[in-house]
Amino acid sequence: MVSAKLLTAALAAALPASALPNFVKRENAASPQTITVTIPAQPTETGPAVYDWTKGGVKEFTIHQSCNATERVQLRQGLNEAITVATHARDHILRFGNSSEFYRKYFGKAPTGEPIGWLDKLINGDKNGLIFRCDDIDGNCKQDGWGGHWRGANATSETVICPLSYATRKPLNAICGFGYTVAGGKLAWTFAGDLIHRAYHLPLIGQDTVSHYADSYDECLQLAKTKPEQAVRNTHSLQYFALDVYAYDIALPGVGCTGKPAAAAPAPAPAASSASGTGKAAPSPTKTAGTECHTHDNGDVHCS
Ligand SMILES: *[C@@H]1O[C@H](CO)[C@@H](O)[C@H](O)[C@H]1NC(C)=O
Ligand SMILES: *[C@@H]1O[C@H](CO)[C@@H](O)[C@H](O)[C@H]1NC(C)=O
Ligand SMILES: *[C@@H]1O[C@H](CO)[C@@H](O)[C@H](O)[C@H]1NC(C)=O
Repeated sequence: MVSAKLLTAALAAALPASALPNFVKRENAASPQTITVTIPAQPTETGPAVYDWTKGGVKEFTIHQSCNATERVQLRQGLNEAITVATHARDHILRFGNSSEFYRKYFGKAPTGEPIGWLDKLINGDKNGLIFRCDDIDGNCKQDGWGGHWRGANATSETVICPLSYATRKPLNAICGFGYTVAGGKLAWTFAGDLIHRAYHLPLIGQDTVSHYADSYDECLQLAKTKPEQAVRNTHSLQYFALDVYAYDIALPGVGCTGKPAAAAPAPAPAASSASGTGKAAPSPTKTAGTECHTHDNGDVHCS
């Protein structure tokens, strides 16, 4: 125990009895009074450290020092929005299970536990060592259309995000705007959608199990019917599902923007300069999104 004389006060001498608080008792109003306060010793000062299971845990992705201020703020927002979209997707499944037609559309008859789990790994899984960088360390960003890439064998926990992404990816609150639809737009149209994809390449999150089993919107719907056990671990199915339910439940409640696959959609209006008087054409989702490419373990480059 530590005993500290914190306060020695000549309380009484100059003061009348009525000026003192009630709890101060005076034995002799004429002489100075000493008040001693005793503070218990902190138990941690000498005892063994208490086990803390959260110690060393990392809750957020790390943004590398190579990212400048602009890139950093955009990337952090994109990563936060990826978590927002994934969180809603998980919560939609928790709420509706397979009674959701969105669930059945993307995951067929698969039990709900697995996609809930993959989404939660992205949302709440430990992010120790998971780094997003901006310095084009592998020299891939110079290639036309590259928005970024997983570093693969060069650094399995690292992802490079190229300058193209900062110039083209849309914030989440733009979803359903600018002609974007889930079925007809690129999965990387929003930064959030793009970063969900990139996160699953990281073995700590995707465990080399969430992967590419089907790519296009139509192929993902087909996979739900034929191989639901693969659909629940198909990166693109998880992305399409998450964006579709976010659009329907949150962005435009009860309406959403599922749309139609690009091939079946009507041709975009020609970019006539007379359309708006500003000379600006309505942004085309396929043009503004940039091409999404990434490199697989075996060295294959995959673009969509
Ligand atoms: C939905 O899940 C229940 C079990 O929770 C199962 O009995 C039923 O067959 C599933 N329906 C579909 C369409 O997958
Ligand atoms: C790994 O680094 C080498 C050499 O810098 C580079 O050629 C290769 O493309 C990199 N791999 C990936 C997946 O970027
Ligand atoms: C940061 O980098 C981007 C390219 O990704 C560039 O366009 C931007 O001007 C840079 N910002 C600052 C503050 O230097």
